[in-house]
Amino acid sequence: MRPILNRQISNLKESATLFINQLALKLRNEGKDICHLGFGESPFPVPEQMQDALRNNAQRKQYISGYGLTELRQAVADFSQKEFSYNYSYENIFIGPGSKELIFQLLYLLEGPLMVPAPSWVSYGPQARIRSKTFLPIKTDFKNGYRLQAEELDAACSSQDYPQKILILNNPSNPTGSVHSAVELRDLAEVCRKHGVIVISDEIYALTQYDGQQFEGIAKYYPEATITTSGISKAFSAGGWRLGFAMIPDEFAEITKPLSAFVSETFSCVSAPIQFGALPGFAGYDELREYVERCRDIHAATGHYLCQQFRKIGLNCPEPQGAFYLFPDFENFKDKLSSRGIKTSTELSKRLLDEVGVALLPGADFYMPENYLAVRIASVDYDGAQVLHDFPGKTELTQELNLSLFPKLVEACRRINNWLK
Ligand SMILES: Cc1ncc(COP(=O)(O)O)c(C=O)c1O
Repeated sequence: MRPILNRQISNLKESATLFINQLALKLRNEGKDICHLGFGESPFPVPEQMQDALRNNAQRKQYISGYGLTELRQAVADFSQKEFSYNYSYENIFIGPGSKELIFQLLYLLEGPLMVPAPSWVSYGPQARIRSKTFLPIKTDFKNGYRLQAEELDAACSSQDYPQKILILNNPSNPTGSVHSAVELRDLAEVCRKHGVIVISDEIYALTQYDGQQFEGIAKYYPEATITTSGISKAFSAGGWRLGFAMIPDEFAEITKPLSAFVSETFSCVSAPIQFGALPGFAGYDELREYVERCRDIHAATGHYLCQQFRKIGLNCPEPQGAFYLFPDFENFKDKLSSRGIKTSTELSKRLLDEVGVALLPGADFYMPENYLAVRIASVDYDGAQVLHDFPGKTELTQELNLSLFPKLVEACRRINNWLK
């Protein structure tokens, strides 16, 4: 018997980022010398305080309320009040197995088309498709660092008839590393208000904003209709622990009941020891601040280094301001690459992996046109524990230091440069 499958699922391909990670690791295991710029996993060890809390709570075996552990929800509410001036009450905070799952559940619950800036993270589109939602990537401009502008959002909203629209704004951005300014957020908020847009503000990289500036999220300017999501994967390097949260404004009290029912009928709750393990990340953030800021400074150093190198090679690349990604394009080499049979970003990525062992992701996976030769670079292929120990701080990094701390990143630039000659 052949199983009959739900086509919304059977037509999905495996998440592009997880796929490239598996492929690059397989090639490495086969002995190939791969520079892995494809996967955005924080390379640093999980802070000791969180590891201790996880160990000390391993015996906890109870189911916890689907909302999450009360102490953790309260700690997240206090943390986001103190660090980002948000006013979410702890009763409206959901703890889930990663913010990815919570975003999915929210998209499942909320009616209306999903709009995202293009480029945006690879998983939003498939999540919308699973739910048969209209998915509308909004074209942005290189000259704005691909940050969504109010006029662009306004035009997109005007093209949609459904009275409610959803916008996912990921700030700092995966794939570009861009961070929206306060003025941009305020202007976007005005457009959202005009068109009845619910914003899911994906702030999983908020604590990685470079240069020590206070991060600002759109909830500050549009508190009444912004659901903010984040978690422990990036700033606390605990992606595999699978814990994230969604913060829902009081105005959306109607969301919390059905969402809680949805949670109870699906994942039930996040594993209890993991919730206790996450607690020091928020309740004891002052103790972890130094770790988070040191990791952030390392991301800033690698981001600036790669951007400089890419520009030297002749690629166009917006300067990253947060997260651990860059989004350079090879448009200046279009004719040369075309003569080698490379006309799409997918072909470009494939050939870079096959011919010089540099793994990265095609811009097309981030909703850019196939023939636009952009790629997504992750800047985390190094030994995080070693670098955390040896990193000299914010001083200018010399080429020797870069070579000893980030040999794969230096080597990737050398390979791309030679390949383009
Ligand atoms: C933009 C963005 N949002 C959300 C996530 C998922 O985070 P979590 O580990 O909380 O599910 C990621 C992970 O790569 C991401 O890059």
